[in-house]
Amino acid sequence: MRIRFATWCLPISGFFSLLLSAQPLLAQQAQSAAAANDLWWKHAVIYEIYPRSLQDSNNDGIGDIKGIAKRLPYLKDLGVDAIWITPMYPSPQVDFGYDISDYETIDPQYGTMQDFDALMKEANSLGLRVIMDVVLNHTSDQHPWFKESKSSRNNPKRDWYIWRDGKNGGPPNNWQSWFGHSAWTLDPTTGQYYYHYFYVQQPDLNWRNPEVRKAMYDVMRFWLDKGVAGFRLDAVSRLFEDPTLHDDPYLPGYNAFGDRNIKHKYTDDLPEIHDVFREIRKLADSYPGHPVLLSEADEPTIAELSKMYGAHDDEIQLPMDFQIADVNELSAPKFRKLFEEVENNPAHGWPEFFFSNHDQQRQWDRYGDGKHNDQIAKLMAMLELLPRATPQMYYGEEIGMRNTDPQRKEDVRDPVGITGWPKDKGRDGERTPMQWTSAAPNAGFAAPDVKPWLPIPPSARTVNVEVQSGESQSLLNFYKSLLKFRHSEPALVSGDYVTLNPDDPHVFSFLRRPPAGGRSVVVALNMSDQKQTVKFDLKKQNVQGKNASVLQSNFETGTSVDLGAIALAPFGAIMLAIE
Ligand code: GLC
Repeated sequence: MRIRFATWCLPISGFFSLLLSAQPLLAQQAQSAAAANDLWWKHAVIYEIYPRSLQDSNNDGIGDIKGIAKRLPYLKDLGVDAIWITPMYPSPQVDFGYDISDYETIDPQYGTMQDFDALMKEANSLGLRVIMDVVLNHTSDQHPWFKESKSSRNNPKRDWYIWRDGKNGGPPNNWQSWFGHSAWTLDPTTGQYYYHYFYVQQPDLNWRNPEVRKAMYDVMRFWLDKGVAGFRLDAVSRLFEDPTLHDDPYLPGYNAFGDRNIKHKYTDDLPEIHDVFREIRKLADSYPGHPVLLSEADEPTIAELSKMYGAHDDEIQLPMDFQIADVNELSAPKFRKLFEEVENNPAHGWPEFFFSNHDQQRQWDRYGDGKHNDQIAKLMAMLELLPRATPQMYYGEEIGMRNTDPQRKEDVRDPVGITGWPKDKGRDGERTPMQWTSAAPNAGFAAPDVKPWLPIPPSARTVNVEVQSGESQSLLNFYKSLLKFRHSEPALVSGDYVTLNPDDPHVFSFLRRPPAGGRSVVVALNMSDQKQTVKFDLKKQNVQGKNASVLQSNFETGTSVDLGAIALAPFGAIMLAIE
């Protein structure tokens, strides 16, 4: 009996212990299945890093990969989920990295491939994803492909770029470079012109050539094999040009470069870009972990922007919304209209919002009024982080870094500023080194005896991470707490978006409702320099509750307010939880 009992017992206890050990195993499997299916980019916050300017680690005055690695814990603590790093590939640096001469390695001024691998490892161990920037439209004129292409009309790579004969002793047509003057440059050796949408040193690739496509897709595979979480696709609306070389139509007036204004009708947004987007998406989808594609999409309207998602949601997951970034004034009706267009356009996929980046003046300078800048910076943070979208931040935005433009032409580094001076001072102003500490002279960006590649803004003595970490009401701590809410409040993580008080000329308000019940969130942003009173009746939106608790506000944090009368200070912004 004993033996029988024992033999009978053993399988049972074995069964239970199996069950017990299987439970965590099953939970783990369920968790990893959920993680594998998770479209992480829908609830991530992306942080753009301009690598030259985040942190110098080797005393050359230029930020680098080891510098980024050093600052990963800061980014983790800030509360972002992914970093997009602008190009770090070998480059003559005419366009500070956007002129690439080798797509599959690292420029020595930023470090080595080993440094990159170590960065990936460290980022992943902190749960941070890394998004690379890939420049598909053009290479550097120093890329071996272009050198070959240029070497003779018969070179097998001749057709990798856009070569055409001139017309009437000049360029083939009137197409203009985005960075000024003709988009064609004559190569005296072969007697033909090559096309460049950007600088002379950035010849456009010929995307109608299948070998070019293959080469670029191989580049993307190379980085995806290394585990990157996706790509920001540079200037992709410009991949194709009209093959018949029609002249672009002129618009009234002249630009900062002294050229006639022109509409880039035949060199931008040609329908073939969508074939490429679909191919790239297929490639990205063939990798695990849902790599994401972000496109630089300065489209003229939200309807045009929506096309980037693809007719079957099979193109770009996150086209960057320049419409909202570029409102350039605090206007409740203007923001409301654009957000409405995003929400009510059936072709619009998941939105991606930002205000600053390495090509545009920092938001503080475009939206501040000089008097209430701190309130406005916090209001902008709420506008960026609380709607239904993936927000994209730009380094230094969280401490309110401002543009510091060069004062003299001889100090300008960005060629746009050299060609456009003084009307267009270029993009140096938004690319100045990150302000980490009050320490003079380099604010913790580089050792004190080093000359940074761009000057440290004078504001660094008081506006920096060190100072703001210690001030409970600082912009940095405001961002941190908003980012926490964004990740923990169901209404903000995955709730819908509903416009509130559509006729209010001053206060832009919206509601976020969680998908599975629970508390809703109301956001009210007073975009005027006057006090305003707002009230909310949320019955129509199926949200009950007369009182609301204040989750976050840029002027005072009370505990509870009456939804029938909420007083907002000038540029006051408030986030309320309705139970
Ligand atoms: C994109 C980049 C910009 C660069 C240009 C040419 O617009 O964001 O910095 O100069 O493409 O590559």
